[in-house]
Amino acid sequence: MKKKINLRSQRKNEHVQHAINQNSQSVLSDFDNVHFIHQSLPSFNVEDVDLSTRLGEFELSVPLYINAMTGGSEWTKSINGKLARVARDAGIPMAVGSMHAALKHRELKDSYTIVRETNPDGIIFANVGADVSLEGAGDAVEMIDADALQIHINAPQELIMPEGDRNFKSWRKNIESIVQHVSVPVIVKEVGFGMSRETLQSLKDIGIRYADVSGRGGTNFASIENARRKEQDMSYLSGWGISTVQSLLEAQPFHEDMHIMASGGIKSPLDAMKCLALGAKAVGMSKVILDTVENQGVEEAVAYVERFYDQMRKIAILINAANIEQTAGSPLVFSPEILSWQRQRGLPDDERTKR
Ligand SMILES: Cc1cc2nc3c(=O)[nH]c(=O)nc-3n(C[C@H](O)[C@H](O)[C@H](O)COP(=O)(O)O)c2cc1C
Repeated sequence: MKKKINLRSQRKNEHVQHAINQNSQSVLSDFDNVHFIHQSLPSFNVEDVDLSTRLGEFELSVPLYINAMTGGSEWTKSINGKLARVARDAGIPMAVGSMHAALKHRELKDSYTIVRETNPDGIIFANVGADVSLEGAGDAVEMIDADALQIHINAPQELIMPEGDRNFKSWRKNIESIVQHVSVPVIVKEVGFGMSRETLQSLKDIGIRYADVSGRGGTNFASIENARRKEQDMSYLSGWGISTVQSLLEAQPFHEDMHIMASGGIKSPLDAMKCLALGAKAVGMSKVILDTVENQGVEEAVAYVERFYDQMRKIAILINAANIEQTAGSPLVFSPEILSWQRQRGLPDDERTKR
């Protein structure tokens, strides 16, 4: 039993260590393929810009959140404590990492509950995998008094992990049953491989109203899991997935019915603004916040988030937008790669690119 806990905790630590070591410059991000149109005569002052957002039942004064990462070991408990302080002091939501470790081994609970203890009034998301039992999903929510439950779908990661899951066909039914029974909103999220229109349709059909596309372009779990394998024999999958930009285009037909959240490779306030322009209601970051908090500490991480939001508001001036609605309606130009993706996938043309 002790050995199992140690293996699980060790895996958590390895994920964090490999993510920190990962050079995110080397992965394929698509934000450079989307262009805003500079407007030389702004109609607003910076102080007029308010990018607060309504994400379904959540009102967020800043359209950012810290996405799921850790918990399940001593080291990650201390990281979760620090991330919770950042979320609290910057006033943004935070997700904990997968809670299966604590569902199986109660002695690991405090590596997650520290987040609620540190941030009693904050918006906190629990996190489980799609194979979790109904009871486990409820326990995860209760454990940290979560405001929403993230269910991660991570098939590539499982398949690359030697010890990973090989059974997937029950996922959809399981998610459907969880959304029907759990007491808080359910957010289905990817882990950096992006979401297709087909996936989103399937989620919509089973009653999911919140989806975090978490696309390719940032943390790359194909590479992380390969780095953990002795043979590294699935390294050819390191470019697998749909970029965050492509995923947001895939999500365009779902804006009426779903609250779309963007994550995966958001490294600058300009990337985040492009996500809002493509219809995301909020933008999540994992690795850059982890790096900042681990290398520079909590205060600097809070300052990082504040600067980040401040710069988003400055960019809003340059596209003549005063709020999130105007940002989402601002004209864009796509590079040929993105146009080609749109055409080949039969996605509706973005009217804004024709103005
Ligand atoms: C160290 C680390 C651990 C992660 N663990 C989880 C997890 O337990 N559950 C989950 O849903 N996503 C997990 N993720 C994925 C992130 O939530 C996010 O989807 C992905 O990292 C893309 O965002 P990024 O490019 O900003 O890092 C993890 C990411 C990192 C960096």
